[in-house]
Amino acid sequence: MTIQKSAFGTTPDGVETSLYTLQNRHGLRVKITNYGAIVTSILTPDVQGKPGDVVLGFERLADYIPNGPYLGAVVGRYGNRIAHGRFTLDGQEYRLATNNGPNHLHGGNEGFNTKVWQAEELPEENALKLSYRSPDGEEGYPGNLEVTVVYALTDDNGLEIDYTATTDKATPVNLTNHSYFNLSAGKADSIRDHVIQLNATRYVPVDDSSIPTGELADVAGTVMDLRQPQRIGQNLDQVPGGYDHTYVLGQQPGQMARAAEVYEPLSGRVLEVFTTQPGVQFYTGNFLDGSLTGKHGHTYTKHYGFCLETQHFPDSPNQPNFPSTILRPGQTYRQRTIYRFSTRAPQHEA
Ligand code: BGC
Repeated sequence: MTIQKSAFGTTPDGVETSLYTLQNRHGLRVKITNYGAIVTSILTPDVQGKPGDVVLGFERLADYIPNGPYLGAVVGRYGNRIAHGRFTLDGQEYRLATNNGPNHLHGGNEGFNTKVWQAEELPEENALKLSYRSPDGEEGYPGNLEVTVVYALTDDNGLEIDYTATTDKATPVNLTNHSYFNLSAGKADSIRDHVIQLNATRYVPVDDSSIPTGELADVAGTVMDLRQPQRIGQNLDQVPGGYDHTYVLGQQPGQMARAAEVYEPLSGRVLEVFTTQPGVQFYTGNFLDGSLTGKHGHTYTKHYGFCLETQHFPDSPNQPNFPSTILRPGQTYRQRTIYRFSTRAPQHEA
C-alpha cells in the first residue's frame, strides 16, 4: 500500500516534521508524525462500518509542543518512573532529571517524545520505520543508544509496533507507546462505560509517589482485579486517584501475551492488546483536566481516554527482583506490541 506523506509543521528549532498516513484494505488508517514518533490518529470502522478516530491527539505540530500528557508518543529512554531519578549500574551512580515530584518520569525533561526521528517509508510492509540516536549522557543516561520503532499495519487491523535498540554502554531501556484510546470516537466523553478485561493475576503496588514497593501483589479480591470483563467505571472511584498501575502479564520472556481486551458498547469497537513486554500500565487519564482541546473540538477532561502502555515495571533499575531493563553493548533490545481493532455486535439483554 502506498504511504502518504505531508508536512506537519516546523519545531521551534526550525526542524521540519512530516505526517505519514498508513492504511490497509480493511478500513484501518493510521497517522504518525516523526516528531516524538507520535500516533496522531487511528481511524477504525465501528460495528456499522463507519470510520471513527479512536485516539486522542491534535491536528497540528504546535499543539504537541509541549505534550504534557504524552498523547500518542513513544516514551523513553525509560518509560514510567525511576525513584528520585537515581540508579546505580556496575558500581556507578547515575542521576536523571526529577520531572515528576521527587521522581524521574518518561525519560526526563526532553524525552524521546520531544525528538524529531528519522523516517523511512517501508511500503512493501505497509510500515513506517522511525529511528533516533540518543547521545551518551542525554538526560543523564549512559551510552549512545540507537533506537528504532517500526509501525506496521496488518491485514487483520492490527497496528504492530516493533521496538529495537542497541547501546555502546550499559543503560536502562524501557520503551512504550503512550496512546490514549476512546473507542467511541466522540460518542462518549468518558471511558467509564468501556468494558475492560486484563489478563493479569498480579499487579505492581506503588507508594504515594507511584514508586513500586517491590511487591507483586495478587489482584484476587481487590478492585485491581480486571480478569473478568467489567466496566472501567465499575470500581474506578474505589481506586485512589484512578487506575495508574502496572499489571504483570506473566508470559515467558520474549513470548507474546494477549494482555487485554476493551469493548465499547456504543460503537461496538473492540481493542485487543498483545505484547512481548512483561507488563502493561493501565492508566485511566486521571490527570487530564479539561485544559486541552484536541481533534474534532473534543475537550480532554478526566477519564476522557485510557492508556494500555506495554512496558517493563516501573523503577526496575532500583528493584533487584523485577525483570532487568539493562541493555548492554552487543545485545539488542527487542519488544513487540500489537493494538488490534475489530467490532462486536451488541449483546441483547435478556
Ligand atoms: C503515568 C501517569 C502519568 C501519565 C502521563 C502514565 O504513564 O503512569 O502517572 O500521569 O503517564 O504523564
